[in-house]
Amino acid sequence: MRRVSIGLLGCGTVGQGLVELLSCEQARIRNQFGVDLGIHRILVRDGEKPRRGIDSRLVTTSAMDVIDSPCDLVVELIGGTHSAGAFIRRAIGLGRHVVTANKALLASAPELFSMATLHGVRLGFEASVCGALPVVRVLQHGFAGDSIESVRGIVNGTCNYVLTRMEEDGLELPEAVRQAQARGFAEADPAFDIGGVDSAQKLRILARLAFPNLPAVKVETDGIGAVRAAAIDAARERDSVIRLIAEARRVPGGVALSVGPRVIARGDPLASVREENNGVVIRGRASGELLLTGKGAGSMPTAAAVLADVIGIVAGNMDQAAVA
Ligand SMILES: NC(=O)c1ccc[n+]([C@@H]2O[C@H](COP(=O)([O-])OP(=O)(O)OC[C@H]3O[C@@H](n4cnc5c(N)ncnc54)[C@H](OP(=O)(O)O)[C@@H]3O)[C@@H](O)[C@H]2O)c1
Repeated sequence: MRRVSIGLLGCGTVGQGLVELLSCEQARIRNQFGVDLGIHRILVRDGEKPRRGIDSRLVTTSAMDVIDSPCDLVVELIGGTHSAGAFIRRAIGLGRHVVTANKALLASAPELFSMATLHGVRLGFEASVCGALPVVRVLQHGFAGDSIESVRGIVNGTCNYVLTRMEEDGLELPEAVRQAQARGFAEADPAFDIGGVDSAQKLRILARLAFPNLPAVKVETDGIGAVRAAAIDAARERDSVIRLIAEARRVPGGVALSVGPRVIARGDPLASVREENNGVVIRGRASGELLLTGKGAGSMPTAAAVLADVIGIVAGNMDQAAVA
């Protein structure tokens, strides 16, 4: 049995979920993959905060305690770009594999992938886009025999929840946002989600996977801030719904990337994606359309995607990992 030591950066929503999930799944992972996963240190900002189910002896406020001490792999779940970027660069430089859920960082620092390749380590990032949906794996492995024509999806659960409430309860946007906040589906400041920026970051990651040889282009980004209940009613009369759609599609000479509220017919596979769920439709030239749908965020669904990458990397089964 190979013992694998994980350095965990961050113990918030996803980090705490990872610790819980690992303790539930540890025995199965040992049997199925022949690896014994253990967390050796956990970085947090506030060392005094009580943390349910966390061994306080593992907790540190020094990133170097985690990254520099011998470990096989570093999992980054602190979020943001500045410190997270510095910590991941240090871990890669020390030859550690890295798994991250940080779409903001990956969208703004694509050079991390080439840095990982240069140092001969893996960078897992399935959890950075659409939580539990294995969309990164599908784009990396599932379409190897086909040319992708487009990737189109609902990749922001906050906006989808807000639009669902407007559609089903007749609410205007501010009240629907308040409900999303009350249910824990929206941040106190939801501007990043509502404005389409979060969707644009995820789309950039998906587009790099779907169209690796095409040059990066700007994402034409519009959010749902201007969507009114009357527009949703008008869509309903045409047997349609409004969804925030992120789309990357092949166009002559390149790829076009856009995020914006779109009126889509009820028969569109994305029209049935409701509440805080995500959905992605990948169209291949030969294979036609494939729909992935499910939980795009949340503690346990996101932790499951992180853990799948960890296992894929350490068990040497790259089909299991969404890695660069
Ligand atoms: N939440 C989701 O559903 C979800 C879904 C997909 C992807 N993600 C991504 O997953 C990552 C983590 O998200 P989250 O929701 O788990 O965040 P979170 O709840 O805010 O947790 C962040 C954790 O990192 C620690 N931390 C933050 N900055 C730090 C620093 N500079 N030094 C040391 N520790 C620091 C915090 O410490 P304290 O506990 O002491 O404050 C906390 O434990 C983000 O990149 C996010 O985009 C999240």
